[in-house]
This record gives sequence, structure tokens and C-alpha cells, in this order.
Amino acid sequence: MTTEARRAAGPRSFANVTLRTERLLLRPWAEADIDAITAACQDPEIQRYVPIPAPYSRTDAEVFVREVLPAGRAAGTDVVFGVFDADTALPVASVGLHRIKHLDAPCGGTAEIGYWATPAARGLGYTTEAVREVCRWAFADLALARVEWLALAGNEGSWRVVEKLGFTREGTLRFYTIQRGARHDMWIASLLRSEAKLG
Ligand SMILES: CC(C)(COP(=O)(O)OP(=O)(O)OC[C@H]1O[C@@H](n2cnc3c(N)ncnc32)[C@H](O)[C@@H]1OP(=O)(O)O)[C@@H](O)C(=O)NCCC(=O)NCCS
Repeated sequence: MTTEARRAAGPRSFANVTLRTERLLLRPWAEADIDAITAACQDPEIQRYVPIPAPYSRTDAEVFVREVLPAGRAAGTDVVFGVFDADTALPVASVGLHRIKHLDAPCGGTAEIGYWATPAARGLGYTTEAVREVCRWAFADLALARVEWLALAGNEGSWRVVEKLGFTREGTLRFYTIQRGARHDMWIASLLRSEAKLG
């Protein structure tokens, strides 16, 4: 879709986008994925670094799929892809664009990238492959000018993913967020469309 066509279609046009890479299929999380999301979100690393409920119940995954995701897509502010092994159809990760803003601005919008990988699928490059594709799509189809990344300070694994894609670290936002009842610094980085080399 061209930039002009996407602007004319409005934010809801990304509601049912499916993306593909060499090894992966990225599609909206669906009802059938609720058990897999529930299982993944039991992982201590996801609970430590991602702002999800803790403890995480099946009801939380139901609310996520049935209410949170549709509301974000309808508002044009959030789109989250379930990431699946293209051969086995098993879920390996989740990659989302959040706080999507200024989609209609001729100079381009912005969004924040967020992600987690299932423990079993880590270290295989899946997250990097999926984040690369979502950023490529965001620049090409949503015409974003900037994709930003924020993570709890010290999340070296998350940083490594975007570092490999050419993101530039911009600094530390002191006491920027509350996670699990405590204030934390966050690292911030970004990738601009004008500098992205995502293939
Ligand atoms: C961070 C996370 C998404 C990485 O997923 P992954 O599928 O293992 O990532 P990839 O396989 O694409 O690996 C990307 C790079 O990060 C490196 N990496 C992964 N975890 C790391 C860690 N804990 N410390 C340092 N480097 C790490 C990998 O070695 C790889 O680099 P390399 O190619 O130079 O070896 C995963 O560990 C996770 O889900 N963590 C918990 C949730 C989270 O922190 N989400 C991000 C919130 S901002």
C-alpha cells in the first residue's frame, strides 16, 4: 500500500495485516492463541520486563485478545502481532507497535516497539527477525518517521535485539516508569526511517 493510500484508508487499515519472513508468520493474536499466551506470560523474564499483570492468569490473556487488542486496533494506536514458526505454526514471540501517533502527518508518525519471546524459542534470532519485519512494515506502510524502543534499564537482551537492527541509544529516562510497584529508569533508543537498512 502506498503512503497516500494508507493515509486515505485511515488507522483501521492495519487491523488484519499478516506479515511473513523467511522463517516466520506474523498475524494478529486470536482466540485460539489464548492458552499459548497464558503459558508464555508465566515466564519470570517476561514478568520482570514487560508491563503485564503478575501473576498472569488465563483471564488476563482473554482480556488481552478480546478487549485490549481490538481496542488498540480500532483506535489506531496499537497493533500487536503473534509471531509463529512458519513450518510448525507454533508461537515463538509477540511483537507490537504501541502509542502510534501522527499517522496522518506528512512528515511521518511515531510508535514504540515492544516484544517478548517464548522461553523455548529464545536465542534463535526469531525476535530480531520479527522486529526487523515489523519496523520495515511500519516505515514502508505506515510511513512512520521514527520507531522508538524503551526498556527497563539493564535489559541487555532487549537492547541487543534493536542494536542489531541499527537503533541508536539516546539515553536513560530516570525513574521513568513503575514496574511491580517500584520506580525504574528506562533506556531509550530509536530508529529513523531515513537511516533504516532493514532489507
Ligand atoms: C529479549 C528477548 C525478547 C530476546 O529474544 P530472543 O528471541 O532470544 O532474541 P534473538 O534470538 O533475536 O537474539 C538477539 C540478540 O540478543 C542476544 N541476547 C538475547 N538475550 C540476551 C541477554 N539476556 N543478554 C545479552 N544478550 C542477549 C542474542 O545473543 C542475540 O545476539 P547475537 O546475535 O549477537 O548473539 C527475550 O529474551 C525475552 O523475551 N525477554 C523477556 C521479555 C523482554 O525483556 N522483552 C523486552 C521488553 S523491552
